[in-house]
Amino acid sequence: MLLDKELKIKNVTLQNRIVMPPMATEKSDQGIVTQDQIDYYVKRAQNTGLVIVEHAYISPEGKCSKNQLSICDDNCIGGLKKLSDAIHATGSVCLTQLAHAGARAKHTGLAAISPSGIKLDEENPVEMTSGDIERIRESFLKAAIRSKEAGFDGVEVHSAHIYLLNQFYSPITNKRTDKYTGATIEGRTKLQCEIIRAIRQEIGEEFIIAIRLGAYDYEEEGSQIEDIPLACQKFVEAGADIIDISGGLHMYNSPESDEPGYFKKLSIAAKSGVNVPVILTGGIKTSSEAEKLLEENAADLIGVGRAMIKNPDWSTEAIQ
Ligand SMILES: Cc1cc2nc3c(=O)[nH]c(=O)nc-3n(C[C@H](O)[C@H](O)[C@H](O)COP(=O)(O)O)c2cc1C
Repeated sequence: MLLDKELKIKNVTLQNRIVMPPMATEKSDQGIVTQDQIDYYVKRAQNTGLVIVEHAYISPEGKCSKNQLSICDDNCIGGLKKLSDAIHATGSVCLTQLAHAGARAKHTGLAAISPSGIKLDEENPVEMTSGDIERIRESFLKAAIRSKEAGFDGVEVHSAHIYLLNQFYSPITNKRTDKYTGATIEGRTKLQCEIIRAIRQEIGEEFIIAIRLGAYDYEEEGSQIEDIPLACQKFVEAGADIIDISGGLHMYNSPESDEPGYFKKLSIAAKSGVNVPVILTGGIKTSSEAEKLLEENAADLIGVGRAMIKNPDWSTEAIQ
């Protein structure tokens, strides 16, 4: 069995290859972790190698749902510390997911911002100035520092599901012509790399940095599978320790398939470019499906989302 094999990343060891991917619970109270939320995670963390806590907004205008978790100021550190302590007590390793919704922000009362002001949902976003980009980079860094203070093993930078950083990655939403241009992979990955580099420099070598990449838009004008190896190389050169593969414009679904591991073409492309562990999530319901994907070397770690929401004992049952 490969699913129960340990994996060492930096100075932490994941007890097995199972990942609880980030999934919004809407259980926070004005952005602060609640006891209900802690209980929810503790149940699912048992025998789970890595828990990536749901998306947390890094600045007020980047929020996208009413009861979303916050990491945008120091008030949230106490609750997050209780959460990381509770997850660690199960033997699991945990990351926060740092997010900014960009054009998809809601419930903020503030103007939405995005790389090129392209409308996606109901908001009319404003094109980001270079000052906005600098401020956002700083907000991601400060949120990572709060994660460290709250006892997490690291962070995941959210650049998927057509949220802000994915809006930079996708040529459909990035029409910029400056150094963050949507015309080159370098431009499309520049802000993510700057954020990763800033976190690495400030927090040090041992802090785990993952990046969730909305790797493919499934549209002619969008991001392509061929872009994945080079984009991932850039993230790893900047200091990323884990690549977490998901979708772009179609979010966490594939319009082509709902088979277990429906993003495996994308994770295989990521693995062809880098040597760091790659997470594959999407459509995996059983441990034998997860095992098969590991045997095929489609990924190093397997995310189990909706099946774990439904069955909190998924990991315990999988490794028995
Ligand atoms: C209720 C729900 C909330 C989610 N919230 C997030 C999130 O906060 N951040 C994220 O990157 N993905 C989020 N996702 C996507 C999941 O992490 C995962 O990629 C997706 O559910 C596909 O995996 P599955 O088929 O195993 O469920 C969410 C999915 C669901 C169903």
